[in-house]
Amino acid sequence: MREMIERFFADYAFFILFFHVLGAIIWVGGMIAIRVAVHPGLQHIEDSKTRLARTLEITQRLFNLVLPFIVILLLTGVVMAMGMGFKGTPMNGFVHIKEAVWTVMTINYAWMVLKRNRAQRLFLSGDLAGAKEALSPIPNVMLPINVMLGIVALALGIALRGF
Ligand code: HEM
Repeated sequence: MREMIERFFADYAFFILFFHVLGAIIWVGGMIAIRVAVHPGLQHIEDSKTRLARTLEITQRLFNLVLPFIVILLLTGVVMAMGMGFKGTPMNGFVHIKEAVWTVMTINYAWMVLKRNRAQRLFLSGDLAGAKEALSPIPNVMLPINVMLGIVALALGIALRGF
């Protein structure tokens, strides 16, 4: 199995690194764009029902967009880590930290999806205050945590390159 992965990495290193970095750009960049550019703009919609409806739609689109790239990041990361032969080297510690960071980010992502889905159910039942309350930790706590962790993962990736 290890030999097969090493061979796969040797043959497709360009594409594996390309999709890893693309995944990082879309996941981390997508969260930053929503938090910094889209969320403040949404607050200018005065009608609270319209504001909540647009917020639910935008968060769903973001979460759907990043889901395949979360999987791609892990798969390409594991292939690179094995293909580059980090096992048994000090760099392997960095790989494990990246795996841990990815795991925490993915749990936080899944939690955000559950919160958004709950907010959607409350919204559809007419409980606008409940929907707003269910959504509020996403921009205020959960997205910022994942942005910070994503930046840490990025820095660890560069460190793995040997810089
Ligand atoms: C939160 C998710 C992650 C982000 C945002 C991320 C981001 C990055 C970035 C930006 C690079 C630098 C690429 C370069 O220019 O060399 C990189 C490299 C790397 N990442 Fe990740 N990564 C993530 C998760 C993972 C995971 C889960 C693993 C392993 C299981 C992993 C393993 C690696 C390895 C081995 C490299 C070294 C590539 C090289 O030396 O060129 N990454 N990562």
